[in-house]
Amino acid sequence: MNTITSLNVNKKEKIEATLEKVYNLPALPDIVNEALRLLNSKKTTNRQLVELITKDQSFITKVLALANSPIYGLSREVTTLDFAIMILGYAELKHIVFVISFLESFKGVASKHFDQELYWNHSLLTARLSKRIAEEQGYGKSGEAFVAGFLHDIGVSIIFRYFKNSFLEIKELAASEPVSFIEAERMVLGMDHAQITDGLLRRWNLPGTLIRSTIYHHDPLKDQEDPMLAAIVNLADYIAASIYQDKLIWEKGIELNEDSFNVLCIRKDRREDFINKYTGLIGDEKDFTGMLN
Ligand SMILES: [Fe+2]
Ligand SMILES: [Fe+2]
Repeated sequence: MNTITSLNVNKKEKIEATLEKVYNLPALPDIVNEALRLLNSKKTTNRQLVELITKDQSFITKVLALANSPIYGLSREVTTLDFAIMILGYAELKHIVFVISFLESFKGVASKHFDQELYWNHSLLTARLSKRIAEEQGYGKSGEAFVAGFLHDIGVSIIFRYFKNSFLEIKELAASEPVSFIEAERMVLGMDHAQITDGLLRRWNLPGTLIRSTIYHHDPLKDQEDPMLAAIVNLADYIAASIYQDKLIWEKGIELNEDSFNVLCIRKDRREDFINKYTGLIGDEKDFTGMLN
């Protein structure tokens, strides 16, 4: 039996084992939970948000650094929290606070098996492009698109953190066989990094739109409720992945999904310009994680 055939056997058992493990994963760290509560609640008071941000000075610094970076794309520099609140408003600020608290809690230590710096950089770049595409394609809720882009590959990080041996097996398989990383995930775990987040993000209490955009970021049409956010993230991901492509091992084999263009009503003759436009937008500033350390 060759490697691929042997990896395909017992798919059902693999899925069950993976789901069981996912079910037992730890709850979100307190700070992320708190940020999530604020993100979810319409009744969040401004005072609660300021209290969370001002808990420690380094958190304020990171919120301001992110707001001022090309990732968020503010046209004016914000140097104090009060000014950031004035320019952004509380609703926008909630998204930045959520991303910073998530990044702080999940950053993890350096590993020779998985370049986390590159991974978070890709997440932030996808967040940036998702926000911009949302603004320009009439999605409206660009703050939500920002978080959706940031979270899209969270399943990859989960596999690396909690399924270490499987991660190494997937990595090895994708490197040695003519299969994409996502196919290798399905062979080893019975499911891919998008599917793995399904129950988990629900248990973590993430908003439904963010759960769906994460689960369907490779296949937006499967989001039967509203495929638009998943389509935005899908295109942002494709463009972000074209940078450093050979280094982003988990993006091996990623292909442009024409469905995303259809969802966003982008005509066939405009698609190439679309890709070029947002690729050009990345410009030279594409290394972000350093400034958030
Ligand atoms: Fe992905
Ligand atoms: Fe990605």
